Amino acid sequence: MMPNEKKLRRAIVPGSFDPMTVGHEDILKRASKLYDEVYLALLINPSKKYLFDLETRILIAECAAKDIPNAKVVHSDGMLADLARELGCEAIIKGARNEKDFTYEMKMALYNRALAPEIETFLLPCDDKLGEISSTLVRSLLEKGEYEKANALLPKGALDIILKRGYK
Ligand code: PNS
Repeated sequence: MMPNEKKLRRAIVPGSFDPMTVGHEDILKRASKLYDEVYLALLINPSKKYLFDLETRILIAECAAKDIPNAKVVHSDGMLADLARELGCEAIIKGARNEKDFTYEMKMALYNRALAPEIETFLLPCDDKLGEISSTLVRSLLEKGEYEKANALLPKGALDIILKRGYK
């Protein structure tokens, strides 16, 4: 690096994103204002059963990332701490809606810090209008065929992808 060259500050916004919701999208947008580059990272847990296959989850996440010039969608079946390091991220950013999220995220933050002490976790309190939104709620609306309601909670363009790919 040249003496006057500024080091890019990068952060990772990780999750299962099954599927990504407007709540996650809000966290991604806010993270993108705090860092030069943000990675929206889909982590794959082999013992977890997802409703959407990886490709569909990626396409949905890309609907949210496409209007954010400094955001990029990535995925990994490894550990979050390793991926964050490989991508040169200095921070892990997650949203927290309530006490339950906070307790879970505290655990994850301590776990990730044990693996990568140089990477800091930051929790962003969710927007007060988005506190009731979850991937679980979206999946249950889709299962009941309540597409309009699900559409309002998904990134723009995501419902089309879901229906085209045969999730009905
Ligand atoms: O909110 P989520 O979707 O449960 O978050 C998933 C993830 C991977 C960000 C969280 O479980 C975490 O921080 N895990 C740390 C351990 C790890 O890296 N696991 C990777 C496979 S899930």
